[in-house]
Amino acid sequence: MTQSQFQVPDRWKWFTESRYGLFIHWGPYSRLGRGEQVLFREHMNHQEYEALACSWNPEHFDAELWAKTARKAGFKYVCFTTRHHDGFCMWDSAYTDYSSARQAAGRDFVREVVDAFRKEGLRIGLYYSWIDWRLPAYFEGPQTNPEGWETVRTYLHNQVKELLTNYGQIDHFFFDGVWPRNADDLQSVELMEEMRKLQPDILINNRVGYSSKHDGYRADGGIGAGDSDTLGDFGTPEHLVAADRSRLWESCQVTTWRLWGHVFGERWRPADYLLDMLCECTEKGGAHGGNLLLNVGPTADGQLPPEFVERALQIGAWLDVHGEAIYGADGGNLTEFITRGRQTTKGNELYLIIRFWDGRPELRLADLATKVADVTLLTTGQKLSFSQTDDELIIGGLPAESPSRLFPVIRVTCAGKPEATEWGRQRLWEGDPLRVAAWAREQRGSSVFAGGGSDSGI
Ligand code: GLC
Repeated sequence: MTQSQFQVPDRWKWFTESRYGLFIHWGPYSRLGRGEQVLFREHMNHQEYEALACSWNPEHFDAELWAKTARKAGFKYVCFTTRHHDGFCMWDSAYTDYSSARQAAGRDFVREVVDAFRKEGLRIGLYYSWIDWRLPAYFEGPQTNPEGWETVRTYLHNQVKELLTNYGQIDHFFFDGVWPRNADDLQSVELMEEMRKLQPDILINNRVGYSSKHDGYRADGGIGAGDSDTLGDFGTPEHLVAADRSRLWESCQVTTWRLWGHVFGERWRPADYLLDMLCECTEKGGAHGGNLLLNVGPTADGQLPPEFVERALQIGAWLDVHGEAIYGADGGNLTEFITRGRQTTKGNELYLIIRFWDGRPELRLADLATKVADVTLLTTGQKLSFSQTDDELIIGGLPAESPSRLFPVIRVTCAGKPEATEWGRQRLWEGDPLRVAAWAREQRGSSVFAGGGSDSGI
């Protein structure tokens, strides 16, 4: 993927250094164990849901334990649901009593999360849903219910500003659920300006609605593939890894298979699948983006599910050894490497992340144009032998058994920034077809051709 001209401002460099964030979807919906949207999906009675929310008291919730686990697992930032589409607030908001602080739990969960994660050295992100399913005026909108709409809009703005005023430095803000409103209804561009006054370094995502003053917006609320909506500092492809070429991006993904909030009887994606998503985000790069925001839905009593912790810590242990191939790394995808795994780069280093260890002592990498100075198997620290011709690097001395349960990594240190040959830049279904014709003509034998091979003119 070619890099765009986009330069990451210093104040946002933590984001590209981080690459890996923890998304936490937690709220009263976790009591029902059917995902974060159970209220709407099952057309629940609002009063019944409210009773459940107001009596919710997650007695085992320990933010410090979450934060320590997250740090050990290698996450560099967190994004916590302050309020999902159900409207229940996870902090002490002056604008409503419908909150964890003013109901049974009597606790400001946002404060506990922010303090604990910050103490562990992670950056802080807050998720906030525009939609509140309890409020008819949100769905009636400014045309049908101008007065009601104005009350809702003011409420939303006040809450966002409150979150950015009372909790110290907020690094990342994740709006969601913009449908069916647009940026003009929500006055989200104006709100973003106010947000930047309160938190000058903040990164704000793209789910802020369509603005008639800005072109190129997709009607999917910003959850789709990158490049086609214009507002916001970073794109948020959801359930997919798609590079945004004009700005930072962060793919949000579940550790289970479908939903974000806790689900009873859920199935969990294996650790190598989760790790591969992180490697893919880093590999794809685009405009220096390529983060993975990996989700967990804690249980109703406040615990990180053991299936999640097990996988997250496996990835954390892998990152302890191989983190330099991910943290602060840029896109790779330099040459064809799909047979073996993924590639990332950083300065003069090229990292070969081997997903498929085939047991052979040699690994051939085609199309690397830059001269190689050193090759190391990062997993064990062992130096590897290598030889290099114009368009092929042959690495030798690889062990027959994979040296790691997750992906081993080979670090190729080049004499300059790693570049691909022309052939490497043009991929399988791209580039000049005449190069393929020349290759076939030069190298083929004649025996398989009915008409006598290279002289036949075909
Ligand atoms: C979505 C969903 C939601 C989830 C999320 C995460 O659009 O509505 O339940 O919180 O985005 O990106």
